[in-house]
Amino acid sequence: MISIIVAIAENYAIGKKGDLLCHLPADLKHFKEITSGKTVMMGERTFFSLPKHPLPNRRNIVLTDVHGKTFEGAEAVYSIEELTTPPQPSPQGREKGCIVNPEEELFVIGGGMVYRQMMERADKLYITHIHHSWEDADTFFPVIDPAIWRQTSAERHEADEKNPYDYTFAEYERA
Ligand SMILES: NC(=O)c1ccc[n+]([C@@H]2O[C@H](COP(=O)([O-])OP(=O)(O)OC[C@H]3O[C@@H](n4cnc5c(N)ncnc54)[C@H](OP(=O)(O)O)[C@@H]3O)[C@@H](O)[C@H]2O)c1
Repeated sequence: MISIIVAIAENYAIGKKGDLLCHLPADLKHFKEITSGKTVMMGERTFFSLPKHPLPNRRNIVLTDVHGKTFEGAEAVYSIEELTTPPQPSPQGREKGCIVNPEEELFVIGGGMVYRQMMERADKLYITHIHHSWEDADTFFPVIDPAIWRQTSAERHEADEKNPYDYTFAEYERA
């Protein structure tokens, strides 16, 4: 089971200059509640953008093209296929593939490049819709096609002294 978790602006923006678009503590808490104790997978840029990496209390997996590259406190995978295909012997004589048990919920936590590749493999989306647009963003999420994705829950919250924008915690499953 593959789930995507992301915070998206109204113009589908998710990042700017290697960082998040805004500080929304309620979303960080929501993210922590959903992913704690689980396996999280991310691209290399997202891993290094985290203020604290690896993410504590989670199994961290980092996707990189650079074979042999390692990440302290995280496991490296060198292709998406390696992560999700049944084990196969590799030329190095060790088994590759099926790093994550297919019955476990694997959380894809970014960034843009990884979301674009994992969207077609995902079973569920946990989306925080931030009710604001950033025209100067440089990283975007793919469009959530209502012919493919059905919203199963939505919980709207107003901005407050800590959270500068209105936001909605939504979940989607395949239609
Ligand atoms: N709003 C949100 O919820 C959210 C969440 C996460 C991230 N973000 C934002 O997204 C931005 C980062 O996204 P990004 O698109 O620049 O980078 P990214 O997706 O985090 O990482 C890209 C890197 O992942 C590796 N990679 C990707 N696909 C691969 C594949 N098929 N096989 C092997 N390696 C692969 C490559 O690493 P190598 O270069 O090592 O080969 C690539 O350079 C930041 O601004 C971040 O703050 C936002």
